[in-house]
Amino acid sequence: MKQLQDSENLNSSKNLAKPFIKWVGGKTQLIGQLENFYPLELPAGKIHKYFELFIGGGAVFFEVIQKFPIEKAFINDINQDLILSYQVIRYNSQELIKTLSKLQEEYLTSNSQQRENIFYKIRQEYNQQRIEFDYNNLSQESIKRVSLMIFLNKTCFNGLYRTNKKGDFNVPIGKYKNPTICNSDNLLKISKILQNVTIHSGNYDIYTQYIDNNSFVYLDPPYRPISKTSSFTAYAKSGFNDDSQIKLSQYYKYLDQECQAKVMLSNSDPQNVDVQDVFFENLYSQYNIHRVSANRMVNSKAANRGKITELLITNY
Ligand SMILES: C[S@@+](CC[C@H](N)C(=O)[O-])C[C@H]1O[C@@H](n2cnc3c(N)ncnc32)[C@H](O)[C@@H]1O
Repeated sequence: MKQLQDSENLNSSKNLAKPFIKWVGGKTQLIGQLENFYPLELPAGKIHKYFELFIGGGAVFFEVIQKFPIEKAFINDINQDLILSYQVIRYNSQELIKTLSKLQEEYLTSNSQQRENIFYKIRQEYNQQRIEFDYNNLSQESIKRVSLMIFLNKTCFNGLYRTNKKGDFNVPIGKYKNPTICNSDNLLKISKILQNVTIHSGNYDIYTQYIDNNSFVYLDPPYRPISKTSSFTAYAKSGFNDDSQIKLSQYYKYLDQECQAKVMLSNSDPQNVDVQDVFFENLYSQYNIHRVSANRMVNSKAANRGKITELLITNY
């Protein structure tokens, strides 16, 4: 009986919607560990609202919303293109799938020289389009733009989204032979999930007025770099420096004390390279600081690849 239940759980996990885009700092690999630190009120059905304020690829969001009885979810990210993609998937999934399938067919039936031409032409088009793009109104152009964004993410080197200071996507072509550019099944599942989700692009404090003692808030900000050479903060245009981390810790306190929400925050662990570095211990001294192991690469001789930890800070 136990075995049967386990295999059913495994199957049902397999059928769940998963992130449609690979994002720097994505949490897919860590999910198994993170779920041990969710508030107990979540599986008990006592938490009804979920907030993810730095959504990125949304690995935790997809997990939480599909596994627990959340009535209302709110997602946000400062990256307008990323949020546009959640909105288009919510409102125009069928048209997005059509556009993306065409791109997939063209790419997969091309030889490597043709693929290179397609990739760089699309990258140029995507960057040019941004300059005067209207992010406030969904249109045919929005569907086109999101299909280009997903195409680039699925075909670029390492499948990551990265922009330069100007805001241009600058990752070169990747070497995937047979990439799945349009995963229709997953996009449709996501679209269904998003129907009841509030989606905005702004600063992380955008939803403060809705957060209360019925809420679980997950904060996954750009990580504090743990060595001079690592640049985990190179998302979008906004640099997230130590002052931003300090401001965020004040917001964390606000969510804890004023909103009385359950709050979980991820960040890098500076002690991977410097055991004396108590930056986060000082900022979050009233809270619980857990360490989970992550398979990330660190640009430092002091830290072994594959053996580093990340922080998970909870107020419960
Ligand atoms: C670590 S990533 C999130 C990873 C994500 N949870 C996942 O699983 O893929 C951090 C995100 O914060 C966003 N960001 C940076 N500054 C922000 C701000 N002030 N307010 C909201 N989002 C911000 C970035 O655009 C980026 O998507």
